[in-house]
Amino acid sequence: MTDQRRPLFACRNLRVAIEDKQIVKGADLEIYAGQKHALMGPNGSGKSTLAAALMGHPAYQVEGEILLEGKPIQELPAHERARLGMFLGFQYPVAVPGVSVANFLRAAVSARRGEAVPIKEFRRELFAGFEALRIDRSFAGRYLNDGFSGGEKKRLEILQMLLLKPSFALLDETDSGLDIDALKVVSEGVNLAAGPHNATLLVTHYQRILDYVKPDVVHVFMDGRIVRSGGPELAVELEARGYDWLDEATAIEANETDTAAVAAADTAAKG
Ligand SMILES: Nc1ncnc2c1ncn2[C@@H]1O[C@H](COP(=O)(O)OP(=O)(O)O)[C@@H](O)[C@H]1O
Ligand SMILES: [Mg+2]
Repeated sequence: MTDQRRPLFACRNLRVAIEDKQIVKGADLEIYAGQKHALMGPNGSGKSTLAAALMGHPAYQVEGEILLEGKPIQELPAHERARLGMFLGFQYPVAVPGVSVANFLRAAVSARRGEAVPIKEFRRELFAGFEALRIDRSFAGRYLNDGFSGGEKKRLEILQMLLLKPSFALLDETDSGLDIDALKVVSEGVNLAAGPHNATLLVTHYQRILDYVKPDVVHVFMDGRIVRSGGPELAVELEARGYDWLDEATAIEANETDTAAVAAADTAAKG
């Protein structure tokens, strides 16, 4: 990448463990303002772990550096990262019975802005979001994610993103479990939120959403590492060929590197 600007978001040699099990084994990302990146990979490769660790989930042991607009944030708790402009749309949003959608969102938006959002203004923004995501207004009074369908939960994640206006949005499998109409609505929401001053990392298993949300860069994540990065054509190739060929390609490359290293060591030893 020839871009000389400072990345909006970066992580360097990020390693994440849980209960002494190393899940993410050194991940590097640089995402510039105005960009959308996709992180694709098989189930169980560690994508959600990476996303949760970037957001500051307290359960993980994290090593390495995380930079938001050049500022190291790896020591900050999740709510401070959120206040600085990070957002994570969950793969599995949790239900919070007793807390209404409207109250939850107003509290979240007020926290992000650092001041209470006046009710009238909030309602206007909320209803605009409902309209954009084709969510019925009755959802304002429902308990957060309580009894919501899979698609409704994902729309609500995107609604949060629209209202919070993050500078860096991580969307973890926001496309999974959506029928084609919901996928289009959610994609429109992602595109609506994306602009020249923010960036998005779409974590996904399938190429499908990338037909609607065009990524600038696609990364393939396998066994805790980014094994390949490329343009949108990489996602198309994955769709056609699956992930296994990359596994083999990576193994061959690693083997070649090993062979080269052995040869170099041999030469050095022979003096
Ligand atoms: N709390 C946990 N304790 C132990 N292992 C975990 C925990 N959370 C995730 N893992 C393991 O980490 C690996 C990566 O999971 P995950 O990050 O959810 O992958 P992905 O999102 O790519 O499907 C899996 O093998 C999973 O079982
Ligand atoms: Mg996941």
